[in-house]
Amino acid sequence: MGALDGKVALITGGASGIGLATAQLFAREGAQVAMFDRNADLVNETAREIGSSALAISGDVTTEDDVERMVASCVERFGRLDIGFNNAGIAGTAAIHEHELSHFQHVIDVCLTGVFLCLKHQSKQLIEQGLGGSLINTASINATQASKGLAAYCSAKAGVAMLTKVSALELGEHGIRVNAIGPGHTRTPMTERARDVDGFDEAMIGATPLGRLGEPNDIAQMALYLGSDASPWVSGQVFYVDGGITVNELPPGFNLLEASLRQPGSA
Ligand code: NAI
Repeated sequence: MGALDGKVALITGGASGIGLATAQLFAREGAQVAMFDRNADLVNETAREIGSSALAISGDVTTEDDVERMVASCVERFGRLDIGFNNAGIAGTAAIHEHELSHFQHVIDVCLTGVFLCLKHQSKQLIEQGLGGSLINTASINATQASKGLAAYCSAKAGVAMLTKVSALELGEHGIRVNAIGPGHTRTPMTERARDVDGFDEAMIGATPLGRLGEPNDIAQMALYLGSDASPWVSGQVFYVDGGITVNELPPGFNLLEASLRQPGSA
């Protein structure tokens, strides 16, 4: 018997990293899983590997029509929605005084506005169903911890933390719980470039009380708790899953700009 037997989950950014690990875990726990990603080939391939309990949907979280279609496709295939995991995100570094407006706005669009659009259309569906539900957003330790070079990303993630609280406040009367997960540095394709920088991993590990980087499944396990019936009275919270690094200070000199990781316009 799985923790998510009979439930239907929709996961954005489901083709890679944390989203993929969560889709795999949710499927193992008995859920039917709709995986949404802008990388059409990858989301098709990864959903196929999971099997018939998974549906691939390609699209962009910054486009409202795509997000509306995402919810509709999930409901069309599986008949309902119970859990939304709003997890798609991008990084990309630039110094404030050199930050291109278009790049700043793009990061905000994907990481913050994309979460808003998902919450909007998922909550509409959940309210219509009248059976409650669980919505989970991916924030970051950068919702509270500043990092040089990550002005747009840190601002977006802080916004996700507050959007989570407001949504929990509004949607509680419908039995809908809304929470966020704030991962620490987790080994996924998004963080590959940072890990190539000499000394970066060592600095992060050294600052982490549990003495290692995160794995995607570490984050997926928190999504499982929040999505399941094990957390019926949990709402409006941001859970930092980070090996304890947020109780420490980031190491002095932790500076993605000086690490030559500038990737304006990158995704
Ligand atoms: P990843 O790069 O492995 O996966 C992100 C997925 O989101 C990719 O499959 C990508 O195609 C998809 N995506 C990006 N923009 C999209 C868009 N506009 N529409 C639809 N799909 C889109 O990255 P990872 O690490 O799994 O990140 C997942 C979430 O976790 C992100 O929100 C990220 O900000 C957050 N996070 C990650 C941390 C880490 O250390 N890996 C730390 C803190 C937060």
